Amino acid sequence: MNLLDGKKTSETIQDEIAAEVAAIKEKGGKVPHLAAILVGNDGGSVTYVNNKVLACERIGFGSSLIRYEDTVTEEELLTKINELNNDNEVDGFIVQLPLPKHINTEKVIEAINPKKDVDGFHPTNVGRMVAGLPAYLPATPAGILQLLKRYEIETKGKHCVVVGRSNIVGTPMSILMSKCTYPGEATVTICHRNTVNLPFHTLQADILIVAVGKPGLITADMVKEGAVVIDVGTTRVPDATRKSGFRLRGDVDFENVAEKCSYITPVPGGVGPLTIAMLMTNTLRAAKKEVY
Ligand code: GUN
Repeated sequence: MNLLDGKKTSETIQDEIAAEVAAIKEKGGKVPHLAAILVGNDGGSVTYVNNKVLACERIGFGSSLIRYEDTVTEEELLTKINELNNDNEVDGFIVQLPLPKHINTEKVIEAINPKKDVDGFHPTNVGRMVAGLPAYLPATPAGILQLLKRYEIETKGKHCVVVGRSNIVGTPMSILMSKCTYPGEATVTICHRNTVNLPFHTLQADILIVAVGKPGLITADMVKEGAVVIDVGTTRVPDATRKSGFRLRGDVDFENVAEKCSYITPVPGGVGPLTIAMLMTNTLRAAKKEVY
């Protein structure tokens, strides 16, 4: 079994970006700037956004964090988005999800200028991705592609089974794995909550990507010998031995599944850190006007 070290891969990518930023600065060019809108105080979201801002500082990007109470109105958010769309200093921005129930998430995402949508959530970017046009790819699927690429894992003709069909991970992942560029060219099956006999499908996977948020869902008897297993789950479970009072658990029963795999991602330290690296990559591409 080989560990897919997302932490190390993320650091390598961020070092590459930092070197580019240093070169931009030396030439007197514009330093990339990422803004993040965070609504409310959900522990997970606060940590994720803080890590994104810290990553910006580490690699030399400018950053702004805009925080709102969870009582913020949709109109206030839309006004801020309009402001960021028109702010020439800001190359890209994100609205951390999930948003409170009284806010229409689709409306908020659609208000973002696709050229600044470094999360790749706007329907224009989703459509461009599906059509194979240059687009901002959502960070988590893009990070998984980077892992497969940097560990030189063969994907052509392989059977890739994606468990989970979210807009953020499962759906884009399944599309990207079927594309005719490496890492893609795979035969793809998507499983979800209505799938009958999930183990029947997962057992056929050469590459198994799981993104549902159900700790330990994938057990060893559901995985084929020699499979590549990518675990996107990061659920907080109570752990009294930790100062934080919780630990992160993936969707895969790592201890038992690892023995059967050719490659597997740990949780934490697998896919999570790459999400940040790919958001930084998208922000750099936005600053360089590389996409459109
Ligand atoms: N919530 C969970 N993952 C993400 C992400 O990649 N971007 C944003 N904006 N919100 C998220």
